[in-house]
Amino acid sequence: MDKVLIIDDNSSIVSALEILLSLHDLQPLCAITPQAGLQLLRENKDISLVIQDMNFTADTTSGEEGRELFFAIREISPDLPIILLTAWTQLEMAVELVRAGAADYLGKPWDDNKLISTINNLLELGELQKRQRASQQQAMNARSELREKFDLQSIIYRSDNMQKLLEMATQVAKSDVPVLITGPNGAGKEKIADIVQANSQVRDGPFIKVNVGALPEDLMEAELFGAEPGAYTGAGNKAREGRFEAADDGTLFLDEIGELSASGQVKLLRVLQTGEFQRLGSSQTRRVKVRVISATNSDLPKTIAEGSFRQDLFYRLNVIELRLPALCERPEDIAPLAMSFLREKGNSKKLSPQALTAMTRYQWPGNVRELQNVMQRASVLCQEDTIDEAVLALPEQPVAEKIDISFEPSRELLQQTLASCNGIIAQAARELGMSRQALYRRLEKHGISY
Ligand SMILES: Nc1ncnc2c1ncn2[C@@H]1O[C@H](COP(=O)(O)OP(=O)(O)OP(=O)(O)O)[C@@H](O)[C@H]1O
Ligand SMILES: [Mg+2]
Repeated sequence: MDKVLIIDDNSSIVSALEILLSLHDLQPLCAITPQAGLQLLRENKDISLVIQDMNFTADTTSGEEGRELFFAIREISPDLPIILLTAWTQLEMAVELVRAGAADYLGKPWDDNKLISTINNLLELGELQKRQRASQQQAMNARSELREKFDLQSIIYRSDNMQKLLEMATQVAKSDVPVLITGPNGAGKEKIADIVQANSQVRDGPFIKVNVGALPEDLMEAELFGAEPGAYTGAGNKAREGRFEAADDGTLFLDEIGELSASGQVKLLRVLQTGEFQRLGSSQTRRVKVRVISATNSDLPKTIAEGSFRQDLFYRLNVIELRLPALCERPEDIAPLAMSFLREKGNSKKLSPQALTAMTRYQWPGNVRELQNVMQRASVLCQEDTIDEAVLALPEQPVAEKIDISFEPSRELLQQTLASCNGIIAQAARELGMSRQALYRRLEKHGISY
């Protein structure tokens, strides 16, 4: 049974409310002064809602006492739903207080049915908020636990999908199986590779990074496997150690693996299978023990179908696949990343709510790298303390991708808007042009935690 605290100096109002609440399966607690009410509130942590009067001294009607009480309650219990019982003269003040959140008001004399339905609405809302806080708390705990246990290379994220990805990355880091990191441009694939290496058994060994797309075919093979003097045009007259040798007992990160030549693929497959390879122009077999992490933003199954990537190599490389979502698939990460890029530039500028909303709606085709660039530009260009939408100069998106909010908002839009408003329901509701209640209903319907 929900406990409802009634604070009113008029004893006939108190007893009327007491009876009404008892009839509706609510347990009333009563106080006739603000002090007594606050005392009860401190003693009963399980009070679910407060009904309060606005005036407590016989000759006052200003509502000031009610306002003070309201904020005193908020101080003890920031999210406790409060219903203000007001005379019509205090309507303006009531409206202002209600805007501060989790509250409603009723003019005296009240309508019993209306009061009960207001109570039920607020209780439901309070319950939802409690659940939301609990799940946020849980997510936060999971994040800090991961951060304590592993070296996360100061990666910034808040989304659940990144949490899952990082849990998997840190878990597979310890084994020596090959890891393939896939994801679009600038989404942070190299950052994930750094995390896998930093938490591996060979974190103190060499960590060699090779961008496979950066060199022509035979140079790349020499780069990876080494070469004897004169092994290829321009090889020079000195033997050359390859990156595999350099990475022995450590980690080799092969970026843009989809670019590897056909013969390079054969050699790579062999090292992965046996640890053996030969330098270009040499018949001497060498052995290494190397943890291979590879990355690609191309669709390898498609390149396999087209015949330009070996399927057997693919299966070797992606024993574990870490699939990095595009930034627009994890809108919760946008604000914390943006803030961190601003702080990195050593400035204390803030983003306006409009700027945050625009950033959440933008698709970020260049992902985190693009966000980084936008924040760098904005922090240089912006003269004010607050960075506004205009300074961001985000490119126009094709009309088809623009979100039309005159329709029923999609799950994605709800999530994006909520994230851009830092989870502030009132603000998100305003953005979406709907009431808070309407927004709660939709969040519930889509099972979005908020
Ligand atoms: N979650 C994150 N937290 C902090 N910085 C990040 C994060 N993700 C990416 N970055 C930064 O964004 C930039 C791009 O990331 P990274 O180079 O890892 O992306 P990528 O997927 O390898 O890109 P490409 O496809 O171009 O190779 C880097 O400066 C990186 O440090
Ligand atoms: Mg990269």
